[in-house]
Amino acid sequence: MDIRKEAEQIEEEVIQFRRDLHQYPELSGHEVMTTEYIREHLEKWEISYRLLEPTGVIGVIGSGRKTIALRADIDALKIREETDLPFQSQNTECMHACAHDGHTAILLAAAKILKEHEKELDRRIMLVFQPAEETAQGAADVIGTGILDQSDRIFGLHIFSGIEKGKISLEAGPRMASTNWFSIRIAGKSGHAGKPHECVDAGIAAAALVMNLQTLISRNIDPLDDAVLTIGRLEAGTARNVIAGEAVLEGTVRTFSKEVEEQIRERMEEMVEATASMYRVETSLDFQQASHPALKNDQTAVAEAMRKAGEVFKEKDFIHVPPMMLGEDFANYLGELTGCFAFIGGGGKYPNHHSCFDFDEDVLVQGVKLMLVFGLS
Ligand code: NI
Repeated sequence: MDIRKEAEQIEEEVIQFRRDLHQYPELSGHEVMTTEYIREHLEKWEISYRLLEPTGVIGVIGSGRKTIALRADIDALKIREETDLPFQSQNTECMHACAHDGHTAILLAAAKILKEHEKELDRRIMLVFQPAEETAQGAADVIGTGILDQSDRIFGLHIFSGIEKGKISLEAGPRMASTNWFSIRIAGKSGHAGKPHECVDAGIAAAALVMNLQTLISRNIDPLDDAVLTIGRLEAGTARNVIAGEAVLEGTVRTFSKEVEEQIRERMEEMVEATASMYRVETSLDFQQASHPALKNDQTAVAEAMRKAGEVFKEKDFIHVPPMMLGEDFANYLGELTGCFAFIGGGGKYPNHHSCFDFDEDVLVQGVKLMLVFGLS
């Protein structure tokens, strides 16, 4: 199969898939129309498939000793779109702001091409249209079905702004972080703003915690280990003239190693307790360990894919991209199967998860080529 030619010929169609999907984004676990859209196309191309519960589809093409799984995530985000694209989201509460419309379109196009060449295939290809990536639930659910148990390899890709348009990063080792969530509840005693001595101010304790926790990474973690701690939400008090009786902090911790993650969790417990006694508040810490590990690409899978990629891409198509502190539940597959995950430059002006996020549609053909390389490597 001439991968380059096939991918270039499907350009118009892959763009259309993406635009159709972009108009009807759906939240994680609720990808009903998206699932139907994919199903209809697989049906039309006579690709056999199995529907996942409640959403998602797995298609199968070819047969043979070897099984390769290709994965695309299909869900969108709770963001009100602010682009002025002619194919804007028709759902005001939801938007494809993480390019999953692109990933789904790419896998659909690759599926169509692979089906047309089914007779030449010496392997079975599983098309994993995975729901609920944004809630980090979908990959675990797909694994739970056991449907991928026999797969020899699994591959996926992600379009990112901030990487030069069309450039590919396919590198071994840690690529994306594990994502932990935490929330801290602080209970004090509210009362009149003019009588602080009769109250216990939860707001002050919250402020102290925000500052103290920032020293956790900088003073307690080896500077050669990568880690980040962000408090994204802080809420305290009810009125300007009332001492805050309660406060809540919510945040995330991201690392590339289990040990560092554990170290942070332990130190956070100590800091929360110490701050509680210092400010005479009651605290409770809920630290939710990551639902997926850090994403680490397998060296052999990367080498095999790169060998095949040599037939399709030029050297200048590849660039080095440092690991990212973003989470990706593809990491769960890599805990079970051998595989790798690539980044493709989207070339857009706004970052992923922004209400104005968009990517250059030229990137779709590049994605189809890469998906075919994965399928045939
Ligand atoms: Ni994403």
